[in-house]
Amino acid sequence: MTDTTKPLLRVLQGEAVWPPPLWLMRQAGRYLPEFRALRDQADFITRCMTPDLATEITLQPIRRYAMDGAILFSDILILPWAMGQSLEFVHGTGPVLGPIRSQADLDRLDPKRVPDATAPVMETLTRLRAILDGPDPIGAAQGGRTTLLGFAGAPFTVACYMVEGHGSREFDATRGMAYADPLLFDRLMARLTQATADMLVAQIDAGAEAVMLFDSWSGLLPPSQFRRHVIAPTRAIVQEIHARRPGVPVIGFPRLAGVMATEYARETGVRVLALDTGADMTAMQRLLPGDIALQGNLDPLLLLAGGEAMTREAQAIRDAMKGRPHVFNLGHGVVPATPPEHVGELVRAVRDIGP
Ligand code: CP3
Repeated sequence: MTDTTKPLLRVLQGEAVWPPPLWLMRQAGRYLPEFRALRDQADFITRCMTPDLATEITLQPIRRYAMDGAILFSDILILPWAMGQSLEFVHGTGPVLGPIRSQADLDRLDPKRVPDATAPVMETLTRLRAILDGPDPIGAAQGGRTTLLGFAGAPFTVACYMVEGHGSREFDATRGMAYADPLLFDRLMARLTQATADMLVAQIDAGAEAVMLFDSWSGLLPPSQFRRHVIAPTRAIVQEIHARRPGVPVIGFPRLAGVMATEYARETGVRVLALDTGADMTAMQRLLPGDIALQGNLDPLLLLAGGEAMTREAQAIRDAMKGRPHVFNLGHGVVPATPPEHVGELVRAVRDIGP
């Protein structure tokens, strides 16, 4: 039973809504001139940790496109940073962290620091919720129709950056540690699993109406490791959220997981399965129980290209999912070179249901 007029929240709770609500991964980002303007004012972590800035950046795409979902402006690496790991976003390189390679490295992380360190993030969520549900939320008079989303990285993907110390295509050091020193890797994963559940509960208490777990690198793992480092910790987090804050939907994004995504959807308890660009949405919907909502999965490069091919494909995805709880989204984040007009065209195409 749903008691909300927010289309996205209704779908996340398992109801089919037509046309489908939409938001885009990385909808607040470098493709927006107003984002780039704020970018020069402060480094990335400062922007995440300053409620004035993070609130404003989160709302930029809502103001422009009246998206159905507003995703908190933050990052999956804020959690290791809040536990005390060094983190820097280096221009042109991406995140750089002091790598965790030993028990001593792990012992230097302190999950008890997280509530204080992330207090500004929670303040941002509280402000966003008040604005979005307020009388004229964003000067676009959508009147409380936008759902506020919190998020975290899933433990495996966060561990990838924590162990490697930087981005990578293969994350060899991380996958190597999982095999060579499983006790150390399991201790890291256990610590991340608990800290992630606690942080998501705090996000919900601060105002998030649903939360998403990004497992961007889950597809690197063979099935047995996928079960151990993706499905098991995700199930633990989802169970804890459902026990502590019943009814709040969790969206899971096991990127590049292929057929393992079906096992993930059945066994983790997520209400919503977010699918990457390579997934066959129609096949997935046949393989999964009807009460699991699907999210996705237009190719971000088709959004970059724009035009008629883009609107046709977006409507094809939308139409194929008709009758099923579906959240329209991309299969991965908006790429920085995307012309903002293309996003406007996409939003109109998804919402235009013809005569
Ligand atoms: O979607 C949104 O708009 C909400 C905010 C958000 C960011 N990162 C902002 C960000 C979210 C949900 C994320 C998730 C995230 N962060 C993931 C999972 C999703 C995915 O893309 O697979 C991962 C792996 C990260 C780690 C991360 N953060 C990397 C690898 C980088 C550098 C590469 C890049 O895309 O710039 C970041 C930085 C980052 N996170 C930026 C933004 C807007 C760019 C910072 C800047 O230079 O302004």
